[in-house]
Amino acid sequence: MENNKRPETMERITTKALADAFIEDQIAKVRAQVGDKKVLLALSGGVDSSVVAALLIKAIGKQLISVHVNHGLMRKDESENVIKVFKEGLNANLIYVDATDRFLNLLAGVSDPETKRKIIGAEFINVFADEARALEGVSFLAQGTIYPDIIESFKQAEGKKAVKSHHNVGGLPEDLQFELVEPIKLLYKDEVRVVGEALGLPHGMVYRQPFPGPGLGVRCLGAITKDRLHALREADAILREEFDKNGLAEKVWQYFIAVPDIKSVGVKNESRYEGWPAIIRAVNTTDAMSATIEEIPYALLHHITHRITHEVEGINRVLLDLTPKPIGTIEWE
Ligand code: XMP
Repeated sequence: MENNKRPETMERITTKALADAFIEDQIAKVRAQVGDKKVLLALSGGVDSSVVAALLIKAIGKQLISVHVNHGLMRKDESENVIKVFKEGLNANLIYVDATDRFLNLLAGVSDPETKRKIIGAEFINVFADEARALEGVSFLAQGTIYPDIIESFKQAEGKKAVKSHHNVGGLPEDLQFELVEPIKLLYKDEVRVVGEALGLPHGMVYRQPFPGPGLGVRCLGAITKDRLHALREADAILREEFDKNGLAEKVWQYFIAVPDIKSVGVKNESRYEGWPAIIRAVNTTDAMSATIEEIPYALLHHITHRITHEVEGINRVLLDLTPKPIGTIEWE
């Protein structure tokens, strides 16, 4: 427990020089810890696991085996980007697993949000464990644990109750027990980003908005279907593209589309056109415990509405969610 406490003397990492010193220190520590053994990492492409991957590739190269599980609930081009950055860019020892069908088959007909979360979390472990068992000689598991996760687990030990089960992955099965490598566990998120940039990761990856573990699964509301999930992914890509182009991506904490399982009547090419609504949610917060609504210029909203309704098959309306947290949580599910 003691080495899970951030020493009071530890300086906040705010500059490239401090990040470089931290990286050098961790490289030495990781090498001393793992020797010539292999290390496994679940690489989601989120900030934390990406920074751990880049750091470990620097420290131990191909001894790190990264596994990227595509659960079919990623945003548009996200898995491709992980492959591009790590396999092509950093020459990583990366295993890509397309488990889309496994997840979508299990989720078919399931509409309860917490049940969906549990299925996604459990299946993630199953897929990852299958990959881990197929490998030989792995002794260590690297994790992108950061200091807020440790603070959170201290709180949970005190018995505080959560509104949603945000913890995406439980422990691995009994037969797969590894020693942990957690090089960024004493860092706050802003420090992780400074380290990520010092490691040369792309800006967009390091400053990526938070994305929930269950991914688009909790934004394709109710029982997930392939066609509605596809419409959601395309509409979300348009929203992100427009936020990027208009300087909002850096300003807004989290922004996304949710698509409920409701159809309304519309008209297209002079014919009846039934479709789902795409709901825009764009919030600002510091700790995700409460959130306010970002004001999006009306002209931009019109433009996004036009693009989504004209470019995305199955969407015939665009709605704007103006609800702060509380009373609405950030995600709809
Ligand atoms: P809520 O919806 O509870 O979300 O206001 C607060 C923040 O947590 C994210 N979120 C999740 N993250 N697994 C995650 O890793 C989850 O199951 C999950 N549910 C919500 C949400 O995107 C927001 O940033």
